[in-house]
Amino acid sequence: TWTTEAFVEEAIREVRAKVSDKRVLLALSGGVDSSTLAFLLHQAIGDQLTCMFIDQGFMRKEEPERLIKLFRERFHIPVHYVNARDRFLARVVGVTDPEEKRRRIGHEFIRVFEEESKRLGPFDYLAQGTLYPDVIESADTNVDPKTGERVAVKIKSHHNVGGLPKDLQFKLVEPLRKLFKDEVRKVGRSIGLPEEIVRRHPFPGPGLAIRIIGEITEERLEILRDADFIVRDEIHKQGLYHDFWQAFAVLLPIRSVGVMGDQRTYAHPIVLRLISSEDGMTADWSRVPYDLLETLSNRIVNEVPGVNRVVYDITSKPPGTIEWE
Ligand code: XMP
Repeated sequence: TWTTEAFVEEAIREVRAKVSDKRVLLALSGGVDSSTLAFLLHQAIGDQLTCMFIDQGFMRKEEPERLIKLFRERFHIPVHYVNARDRFLARVVGVTDPEEKRRRIGHEFIRVFEEESKRLGPFDYLAQGTLYPDVIESADTNVDPKTGERVAVKIKSHHNVGGLPKDLQFKLVEPLRKLFKDEVRKVGRSIGLPEEIVRRHPFPGPGLAIRIIGEITEERLEILRDADFIVRDEIHKQGLYHDFWQAFAVLLPIRSVGVMGDQRTYAHPIVLRLISSEDGMTADWSRVPYDLLETLSNRIVNEVPGVNRVVYDITSKPPGTIEWE
């Protein structure tokens, strides 16, 4: 029978045998896969592991800070933090097409990854949080014909865009490759990852950039980050976080008229997207209590400058998608 303890023991043994005294690079995203992987590898090979976190500026409020702090202070795993916020923003200025946003963010990610890995390297191995379903799809890896070893051609967190350049090829370390998502969660929990990571809602690689409909500006990012923070804060406070598959805010680029005090306002609407789902393939809008919607609406309009209206998306998937872009 499969136990997490046996898995962890075996994985550590395998990693040590494979890596020997070589160096391994890991791109940390903050999700459960890369976090579990970081933990496991740190136990297996200690400071032969380099964890890199690229901050593209599209994460949720306080998330980069919390992640780094957690790894450094609580788990004593050093994280190389790369602040690339300005670069990413510059790349998406004026872009409104959703797929073009993804493409540019993906390419910039690869570029930053390349620069930083050359600066910190050389590395022999790239650690990826590949899971069993990814192996089955397997379009994101090549097999070296001579050794039969899997080599990285893409980065998992940006598998939808942008392959690695030819001169930047790593051999892969993929200790989670036989696991399903729920098994990764069990392993993560057993090696001491906190529930906030183990049961975190899915969050797209391009992040808030695809939740600002149309053009991305620094001001709009700030508005969305604050509104999104209130959504999470409130559902946490009310003990509802785990009732949702995902729960987030979307910022629309249009403006509408409102009134606050005796002042006319002309500002952006926020869309609430509260979703229940088993796997993200199909999804239902959540039948939440009106009181929750009221609290969210009041808090967002009162606490977030630049927003004067909140609407609730009652579209399921299909025909809607979970994200708006
Ligand atoms: P949709 O919007 O297609 O989303 O119903 C299904 C799931 O996929 C996530 N999603 C993404 N994840 N990069 C990602 O890593 C992306 O570009 C992307 N687009 C959507 C979405 O959050 C949902 O969980």
